[in-house]
Amino acid sequence: MASVTFKNVTKIYRGRRGEEIPAVLDLNLEVPDKSFVVLLGASGCGKTSTLRMVAGLENITSGEILIGDRVVNDIPPGERDVTMVFQNYALYPHLNVADNLAFGLRVRHFPEKEVARRVREAAAILGIENLLDRRPRDLSGGQQQRVAVGRAIVRQPRVFLFDEPLSNLDAKMRGQLRAELIKLHQRLQTTILYVTHDQAEAMTMGSSITVMRDGAAEQSGPPLELYRNPVNTYVAGFLGSPSMNFIRGSIANQSCAPVFRESGGGTMEVELPRDERVLHAAGREVLLGLRPESFQPLMPGEKPDAATFPAHLDIVEPTGAESICYLQTGVNTLVCRSRHLISPRETGHRMLFRADPSQVLLFDPVDGRRLA
Ligand SMILES: Nc1ncnc2c1ncn2[C@@H]1O[C@H](COP(=O)(O)OP(=O)(O)OP(=O)(O)O)[C@@H](O)[C@H]1O
Ligand SMILES: [Mg+2]
Repeated sequence: MASVTFKNVTKIYRGRRGEEIPAVLDLNLEVPDKSFVVLLGASGCGKTSTLRMVAGLENITSGEILIGDRVVNDIPPGERDVTMVFQNYALYPHLNVADNLAFGLRVRHFPEKEVARRVREAAAILGIENLLDRRPRDLSGGQQQRVAVGRAIVRQPRVFLFDEPLSNLDAKMRGQLRAELIKLHQRLQTTILYVTHDQAEAMTMGSSITVMRDGAAEQSGPPLELYRNPVNTYVAGFLGSPSMNFIRGSIANQSCAPVFRESGGGTMEVELPRDERVLHAAGREVLLGLRPESFQPLMPGEKPDAATFPAHLDIVEPTGAESICYLQTGVNTLVCRSRHLISPRETGHRMLFRADPSQVLLFDPVDGRRLA
């Protein structure tokens, strides 16, 4: 097993006419030994390029990548002791599952006895022992993906690289394989660098997430730390579903308590904590960030307070365990994830909601950086 370290790594491709196509820009990232780190970002932000540079499939324009304490910039792919699992599984169609699993070992001239042992072991870990004789075309998508993971396992690499391995699967299969990969990581005690654009996958699988944007790391940390303490609106908006609400307004300092007022005559006006950073924002325009679960409808018997505001209920989506409500403040549509069951009969009514002041975030409306 080994750590992976990115030091000021930049990757610039050359286009057909010689133009520069920047893919990764000055990336600094530490993937500790035995950790499960997720690179999360929108399409085109440089995730695959990052993995391909670790695997040695792409050269590094500048900076250094270390596997363990060895700089691998000039080490050929075959000597890096990493394996990559791709989004399209690329199994050999004419080989059965057992031979697909064995292929990489045979190419490297492993003794047949060792090949058989490792194939058996990987098949047992992945629960595909009964599929060893089948050809890939006779397997479901999930089974094919397990074989692709199996091909990586038999190599016993020091680092696993996963490039959106679950995105071709249906939701149920994705959920199942997600859990299996978490177990696999615990069992193999190995280092995993995992790429996805799916925030739910990142939140549930990673011991740490790095949010990438335009080739650079926006923020790294444990999933809940990023969820609760995003450094800017980009990270805040990327994590969580439904997404965080962003409401434009200003902070006034009223009788020593800061108050947020929605711009444009919206109905949202709430008192905020007397936090130093909030007070510092007094008198200026802000974007208030409120997660859908961070405000709740007032229930009968609950008294309004300074964090209560009215809004009209537009749409209710009861999911069974909770209600997803869309509200109108007159200016903004807000999404609320209510723990209470709200009847669709309430649609169109004015209701009172209470924002949890401890969960309110403030951002700069111009550059999106976190203020409080
Ligand atoms: N071989 C290449 N030649 C030129 N440009 C490339 C090449 N590969 C990728 N790019 C460009 O580099 C940028 C990053 O691409 P990359 O494939 O790393 O993104 P990604 O985050 O993996 O995206 P996706 O989520 O769509 O897979 C993009 O602008 C892409 O067009
Ligand atoms: Mg990609």
